[in-house]
Amino acid sequence: MNDVVQVERVGQVALVRIDNPPVNAAGHALRVALSDTVRALDADPSVAVIALYGAGGSFIAGADIREFGKPVQEPWLPRVCNTLETSTTPVIAYVHGVALGGGLEVALGCHARIAAPGTMVGFPEVTLGILPGAGGTQRAPRLAGIPAALDLIVTGRRIPAEEALTLGLVDRIEAGEPRDMALGMAEEVLGGTLPTRRVRDIETTPDDAALEAKAAELRATQAHLFSPHKCVEAVAASLLPIDEGLARERALYDECIASPQRAGLIHAFFAERAVTKIPEASATPRAVTSAGVIGAGTMGSGIATAMLLAGLSVTLVERDAAGLERGMATIAANLDGAVKRGKLTADKRAAMLSSALTGSLDMGALGQADVIVEAAFEDMGVKEEIFGTLDRVAKPGAVLASNTSYLDVNRIAAATARPGDVIGLHFFSPAHVMRLLEVVVADATAPEVVATGFALAKRLRKIAVRSGVCDGFIGNRIMMHYRKAADYLMLDGASPAEIDAAIEGFGFAMGPFSVMDLAGLDIGWASRKRQAPTRPAAERYVHVADRLCEGGNFGRKTGAGFYIYDGRDKRPNPEVARLIEAERAEAGITPRSFTPEEIVARYMTAMIVEAARVVEEGIALRPIDVDAVKLFGYGFPRFRGGPLHHADTLGAAEIVARIEHYAAEDAHYWQVPEVLRRMAAEGGSFAVLNAR
Ligand code: CAA
Repeated sequence: MNDVVQVERVGQVALVRIDNPPVNAAGHALRVALSDTVRALDADPSVAVIALYGAGGSFIAGADIREFGKPVQEPWLPRVCNTLETSTTPVIAYVHGVALGGGLEVALGCHARIAAPGTMVGFPEVTLGILPGAGGTQRAPRLAGIPAALDLIVTGRRIPAEEALTLGLVDRIEAGEPRDMALGMAEEVLGGTLPTRRVRDIETTPDDAALEAKAAELRATQAHLFSPHKCVEAVAASLLPIDEGLARERALYDECIASPQRAGLIHAFFAERAVTKIPEASATPRAVTSAGVIGAGTMGSGIATAMLLAGLSVTLVERDAAGLERGMATIAANLDGAVKRGKLTADKRAAMLSSALTGSLDMGALGQADVIVEAAFEDMGVKEEIFGTLDRVAKPGAVLASNTSYLDVNRIAAATARPGDVIGLHFFSPAHVMRLLEVVVADATAPEVVATGFALAKRLRKIAVRSGVCDGFIGNRIMMHYRKAADYLMLDGASPAEIDAAIEGFGFAMGPFSVMDLAGLDIGWASRKRQAPTRPAAERYVHVADRLCEGGNFGRKTGAGFYIYDGRDKRPNPEVARLIEAERAEAGITPRSFTPEEIVARYMTAMIVEAARVVEEGIALRPIDVDAVKLFGYGFPRFRGGPLHHADTLGAAEIVARIEHYAAEDAHYWQVPEVLRRMAAEGGSFAVLNAR
């Protein structure tokens, strides 16, 4: 017997233990073993019940995602589920931990299911660009009805077993050791107190209205995605005789597998996990129970909120009483939001504000903090002064972090006598909501301080990405570059609204000019002023945003920027058109038109160029780390997998050809990074660099 499946005989009962660490994914070995085992036990007259359960923390976490896109090796999971369902000997399952995707489908192929309290079940396939292809779209509507099945399959929502019970997806909830529970279930089947049935024998209750409504809703809200629409078609097929429905599900599943969106979404899934693989992974993180935050602005308050929500005690320090009071009020409001969203109880909110949060006007109050995050004004002098003070007041071993978005963490570290303890922790606004955290490792940062940054991110439920030191780190550095491309497009003929529409058409929730207005134009203005002394003379410079700022227009917060804001409505700002025209006249530019495809091509090529440089210079560990930054911090469309995954879909030769073509107009801005030139010549890809 293959050891991913182990059989234990107890009288007439065959207990089948599924043991494929870490998460019991239903990869090829498990499928072979499960199918062979159940067939053999079904043929054995001494076996009266076959009871499945999972070893370790879960039943089955789903199909093995690493196998998607590769040739399928028999037996396919749908066939395994059919083998279970058509077994003449009853097959039952005790489900604990998670039963997701193919894991839930295996359970639905069984003749009865009992779940441990709190078990999470669901069909996350749609988040991977596919659909439940092992009978889920046929069996779930038979058990739970079409509306509930559509909801689960189209959203990918994970639900606790308690909700699955009310939907009819599990038969009962009971707590216990998985092996003992599986045995107990089998004995109940023998004793006649646990009924068994085959889901294929149930007929789906027709509900054309629900199917049509969902299809229409998806056409309106998710037109750019592929698999959700296919999910609805598959659920509709559950009205057919089951074998026809299963065949239809298979055909639709194959279409999803072939879609580039599937590859992008699966890349995003692995990106989230790949970024945890850092050189410092074996170092032991320092213990963190209390945190200090310096600066009570939007960022500092957001960081403090995130720390409180993670169960840390927080001391917030600001220079003046009014600022501190505003920060404390922002934190209270943030926590209110968490209560409203059901993420926090009102009691816990009250306890956090009364006992876990302290405000102070004195940095001396940070003496006991295990980690201190400075989120003060973005100015090197200010930061050096703060870190000088921290050096005197922080306890030995405290991690001293800066939330700087651009500045040199090596210089900040040099303001202390303990540079090994200094690190960058770059949060994204709003800090208690956004998932990305850039962990900026300076020359002297100690490995256990890096490990502490990653452990802290995990506690804050954030995705940490390791970055080296450079202006803007991974995310903002790349952003500064492609924003210039947007500016050049604007001056050469495309309007901000046209550019935004094209980028939104590509899949971003917001185009670059809308994003700038939202973030505040003053932020980019400050960094451009900072960079002015070192800006190369050959660099083309567009003044429109500076002129807007000089007129006091900082975007949404002042009511006007690239757009004029009127409540929830926005319209192009006519002042921008005037500024553009004036600048064109001064520079002697005759405007030309750009198609949305041309806009996307230039913008994405610019993003890929700087992303490639970030990899080439070792600022990011791997291309997939850059993809993670853009996916989880900058709204890059998840179904496209990130800029460097997208680059692979274009191919290095195409990108190099584009850059060389654009360089005819601006040879300073459009330069081919070495890594891309090599790939184009030798046939490599960023995926190959990820695999190293
Ligand atoms: N296939 C392959 N590997 C998987 C996997 C899967 N389904 N699920 C998790 N893993 C891997 C992770 O990549 C990770 O590997 P590394 O340690 O090498 O990075 C390891 O298992 C542990 O995973 P996590 O770090 O995510 O562990 P966790 O304890 O935080 O979470 C989990 C566990 C809830 C199961 C989470 O991993 C998860 O949500 N997995 C995905 C579940 C899923 O989407 N299943 C549906 C698959 S599609 C399907 O089943 C199609 C079908 O119909 C046939």
